[in-house]
Amino acid sequence: MRLQLLSIASLVVSVGASWTKNINYRSPSEHHPSLGISIHRVVKRNDPQSSWDQATLNFTHGVASGDPYPDSVILWTRVGPTSDNDRSNVTVSGYVQLFDHDNQKFVSMSKAPVCVEYKIATQKDLSDVVDSGKVFTSSDVDYTVKVEAKNLKPYTTYYYQFNVCDSDNKSPLGRTKTTPHADDDVTKVGIAVYSCSNYPFGFFNAYGNSVRKDSVDYVVHLGDYIYEYANGEYGWGQSIGRVPLPDKEIFSLYDYRKRLATYRTDLDLVASHQQFPWIPVWDDHEVADNVYRDGTSKMNNTESSFIKDGEVSFDQRKMNAVRAYFEWMPIRQVEMDDNLRIWRSFSIGKLLDLVMLDTRNYDRSITDLYWNTDYVHAISNDAGRSLMGQRQEHWFYNTLSESADRGAAWRIIGSQIIFSRVNQSAAFGDDNPLNYDAWDGYMSNKNRTLNHLYSNNIGNNIFLAGDSHASWVSDLAWLGEKEYNKETGEGSIGVEFAGSAVTSPCPYGANISLATANNYSGILQASNDELQWQDLYYRGYYELHISGEEVVANYFGMPTVVTRNSWEIPLANFTVKNGENRLQRPVAGGIVESGSLKAGRTVQTNATHDTLNGTWFVSHAPLEVL
Ligand SMILES: *[C@@H]1O[C@H](CO)[C@@H](O)[C@H](O)[C@H]1NC(C)=O
Ligand SMILES: *[C@@H]1O[C@H](CO)[C@@H](O)[C@H](O)[C@H]1NC(C)=O
Ligand SMILES: *[C@@H]1O[C@H](CO)[C@@H](O)[C@H](O)[C@H]1NC(C)=O
Ligand SMILES: *[C@@H]1O[C@H](CO)[C@@H](O)[C@H](O)[C@H]1NC(C)=O
Ligand SMILES: *[C@@H]1O[C@H](CO)[C@@H](O)[C@H](O)[C@H]1NC(C)=O
Ligand SMILES: *[C@@H]1O[C@H](CO)[C@@H](O)[C@H](O)[C@H]1NC(C)=O
Ligand SMILES: *[C@@H]1O[C@H](CO)[C@@H](O)[C@H](O)[C@H]1NC(C)=O
Ligand SMILES: *[C@@H]1O[C@H](CO)[C@@H](O)[C@H](O)[C@H]1NC(C)=O
Ligand SMILES: *[C@@H]1O[C@H](CO)[C@@H](O)[C@H](O)[C@H]1NC(C)=O
Ligand SMILES: *[C@@H]1O[C@H](CO)[C@@H](O)[C@H](O)[C@H]1NC(C)=O
Repeated sequence: MRLQLLSIASLVVSVGASWTKNINYRSPSEHHPSLGISIHRVVKRNDPQSSWDQATLNFTHGVASGDPYPDSVILWTRVGPTSDNDRSNVTVSGYVQLFDHDNQKFVSMSKAPVCVEYKIATQKDLSDVVDSGKVFTSSDVDYTVKVEAKNLKPYTTYYYQFNVCDSDNKSPLGRTKTTPHADDDVTKVGIAVYSCSNYPFGFFNAYGNSVRKDSVDYVVHLGDYIYEYANGEYGWGQSIGRVPLPDKEIFSLYDYRKRLATYRTDLDLVASHQQFPWIPVWDDHEVADNVYRDGTSKMNNTESSFIKDGEVSFDQRKMNAVRAYFEWMPIRQVEMDDNLRIWRSFSIGKLLDLVMLDTRNYDRSITDLYWNTDYVHAISNDAGRSLMGQRQEHWFYNTLSESADRGAAWRIIGSQIIFSRVNQSAAFGDDNPLNYDAWDGYMSNKNRTLNHLYSNNIGNNIFLAGDSHASWVSDLAWLGEKEYNKETGEGSIGVEFAGSAVTSPCPYGANISLATANNYSGILQASNDELQWQDLYYRGYYELHISGEEVVANYFGMPTVVTRNSWEIPLANFTVKNGENRLQRPVAGGIVESGSLKAGRTVQTNATHDTLNGTWFVSHAPLEVL
């Protein structure tokens, strides 16, 4: 039996611990306690007779940090008697049902809370603690712990660790870094950008490579951090030993927690969370495919489709997904009274403002649900359509203006979906040539954004995107409105860097051959003026190295993700000079490793970097799967 419960009086839970310091208890609203966890009831369970034996408590999923500010950062861990979560929904008596996997039955348990201490210091041996505290966690929040470490200095590296109160039972040591003050001069900031990490499609090698290289300050994740599907529906987890649990499509709070817990066993993901502060947002699959304000792709506007297969209603499902996400991710809830709000921004020195959008869950108008593509095409120019909702849109435009007003060199916008027009008619036909689930399906929102930038003369804009499982690098042009010269880039107002997936397969066919992928890339590149480089073949990620003079983007491809390895192939490098608002010519220096470059060559060198030992070797790219 995996679960143990001791009732030994010597294991009294420390009384000094602060219940509310664990931010996960406050969610969804600290101002409306009745909406969150009843802390009062949890406190009542703090009974020495039923507290945990410290030795049976484990730090089951490492540590994480995120949402850095100049003086504070969020620290995260999970410590409990089991890596499973308990399907409980806070019973009055204080007893819950825990599922005992070894004996395949539910057992009733008293849910005494777990007391945890944390400390943070600038020295690796934690000899100079600058902040510390005690908090509780319990099954009510899936034994997650989320605290805000304070009193920190800007743009400084810190080390942190948790331990079970009054014991040597410690978490791994984490490393993190605060951001500079908004008015600090910083010379350089590095950010690794990820999206679309699908567990049953492969190993998350991409996360580990930036850890092994120690090449950036922060990690940004643009969403699709998990996928909701049953393995059999989308994935080949069986063939690589990576079937995510529960082994079915996920709906309940139990399901979403369990899915997150499975993903967080990937060793490269654990390493990335342990070494870098993350700034993530969700895309659709953190809830379900093509989610929007009111539904998902598997739902029609029929009563029965809102309560599927005896499962939960859409609203309940979304709430479950959002709650589990906030429990597991090391992020702030910037507005506790708005429990769906994840959109937020970070001022990082005089260099940049990082604006993280939620184009999915907060207030998106109806999207392409496959059965309604013609309809969404027809309404894609409707003035009332929005990806973000009015409230977020106003905030977005104001944030861009404030960023320009304060003189930040760059505005970096973390969008989930591709902003630039992508005409795929050469591949998919002329009926519905655009992707109406991306910005192209929300032309008024897109035009309002471009209009705001052009008419207020706000430059140096770098849009980021994930979602598509492919790489797309474009000048940020307002086609049909502002003249744009594809040779020089003149007329654009920034650049878009859209990145490939950590593991999710190529949208033009899983297991596509390199030749076929590059052929499609050529067609896509040629049919879109502002699209300067496109690659479909490689899974991977990119790094942004930002200074006052320029932003450099380095794209990396994974030779294979069906094994765990530390290899990567540099695919292409781009530079954007301050004030130029377009990719520097010749784009990518005129030469890329893969895909199609509008003005330049693709030369396959197969030069592969082993990020573990630093050596280079020539692989038979693509590396044959062993
Ligand atoms: C916690 O870790 C200890 C030591 O590694 C192990 O013996 C124990 O089985 C673990 N407990 C659980 C619930 O996983
Ligand atoms: C709440 O918990 C009880 C006890 O574990 C369980 O029987 C019940 O199904 C749960 N209700 C919901 C809505 O999950
Ligand atoms: C939604 O409608 C489409 C087209 O009418 C149909 O193919 C699909 O099965 C429906 N889905 C659900 C969940 O009812
Ligand atoms: C897409 O490209 C095709 C030519 O390949 C063109 O006929 C069509 O008008 C374009 N559609 C849009 C929306 O740009
Ligand atoms: C957006 O701008 C383009 C280019 O001017 C224009 O063709 C289109 O009609 C506009 N759509 C909306 C909804 O404003
Ligand atoms: C694609 O590759 C995966 C991993 O090797 C394999 O499990 C799957 O069967 C392949 N699919 C096809 C259609 O060949
Ligand atoms: C490239 O794609 C086009 C259009 O789909 C197709 O006609 C052609 O055969 C492809 N060529 C190769 C080498 O795959
Ligand atoms: C891109 O830059 C990297 C260094 O980050 C270098 O190793 C690589 O050769 C460059 N790749 C190309 C295609 O220019
Ligand atoms: C480094 O890694 C490469 C590729 O994995 C391997 O072939 C090589 O032997 C390693 N070199 C050293 C010095 O460990
Ligand atoms: C790179 O790999 C491809 C595919 O295996 C091969 O055709 C090509 O010759 C290789 N190039 C070099 C320079 O080794």
